[in-house]
Amino acid sequence: MKAPVRVAVTGAAGQISYSLLFRIASGDMLGKDQPVILQLLEITPALEALKGVAMELDDCAFPLLAGIVQSDDAKVAFKDADYALLVGARPRGPGMERKDLLEANAAIFSAQGKAINEVASRDIKVLVVGNPANTNALIAQRNAPDIDPRQFTAMTRLDHNRAMAQLAEKLGKTVNDVKKMTIWGNHSSTQYPDLHHCEVDGKNAAEQVDQGWYADEYIPTVQQRGAAIIKARGASSAASAANAAIDHMRSWALGTDEGDWVSMGIYSDGSYGIQEGLIYSFPCVCKNGDWEIVQGLEVNDFSRERMTATETELAEERDAVKHLLP
Ligand code: NAI
Repeated sequence: MKAPVRVAVTGAAGQISYSLLFRIASGDMLGKDQPVILQLLEITPALEALKGVAMELDDCAFPLLAGIVQSDDAKVAFKDADYALLVGARPRGPGMERKDLLEANAAIFSAQGKAINEVASRDIKVLVVGNPANTNALIAQRNAPDIDPRQFTAMTRLDHNRAMAQLAEKLGKTVNDVKKMTIWGNHSSTQYPDLHHCEVDGKNAAEQVDQGWYADEYIPTVQQRGAAIIKARGASSAASAANAAIDHMRSWALGTDEGDWVSMGIYSDGSYGIQEGLIYSFPCVCKNGDWEIVQGLEVNDFSRERMTATETELAEERDAVKHLLP
């Protein structure tokens, strides 16, 4: 058996974590031969609820669960962490403006970035799930100057999975037939699901769908799927978000399938003309625990317009918290 790795999860008593933690502990994320120590962070008032979650984890008798740490101190939760899933965030309260939300979260993610910088493994892989995910990831990254910025990522895998499922359904196929899906940009309603490089049954996806349906139905459906879930369920996506977090980390740690890629919010190196340093979702191939942006895809005018719109939104979010970025 391998030595255990340390997996930090924030917002560990919340609804996403209630699905996520059990799947990490059962080996869905890092493989059925990789023991894990869960290091769980919550705010002080939620520690009692967290205790209940930890009791349930114990009661599953997961063979791969080598330990559980519970804390309201980020320096305890991130100590020597090999992986961190930053799920906890401040939700938008009544009357709260977008700017207030950005600032409230900036405070949380700057403190967590600093703690990661101080105590985590130098090879830590960080995934930010808590919204606004891309900008929260940027804030954490900027507060962790001693860690390679490539190690901070934001989750757009749920959008990627939603885009695959919607397309498969339209064409009467299954998600197994869909390859090379791409989500560009922000995890928000400006994200751009791109079918021009996507393949269904080995054939170009954009050529198999009507352009009107693509522009007027498909793209808005994927962009607004989170709101549609809230309307139907009365609560935001939880199990599917947890599933996407598992998928994201598994791809990153264990690699993507040959002939396919995934979407990840990552530190832009200027590829495809996207401003360097933004956390922007790109198509990525993962190998040996590292990711690379898929290069050389042709970008037509339809795509460029949408890629720029979502880039502009991310630049605006960054500028709104500029005074808090080191
Ligand atoms: P939730 O409200 O059920 O749980 C959040 C938990 O975080 C709470 O238990 C809260 O006490 C904790 N928390 C708050 N501040 C914290 C801090 N500073 N340190 C540690 N813990 C803290 O929310 P849920 O449904 O689990 O969602 C979590 C986040 O994920 C939200 O921001 C949500 O918008 C986001 N999300 C992102 C998705 C994506 O695709 N990127 C998809 C779905 C949700």
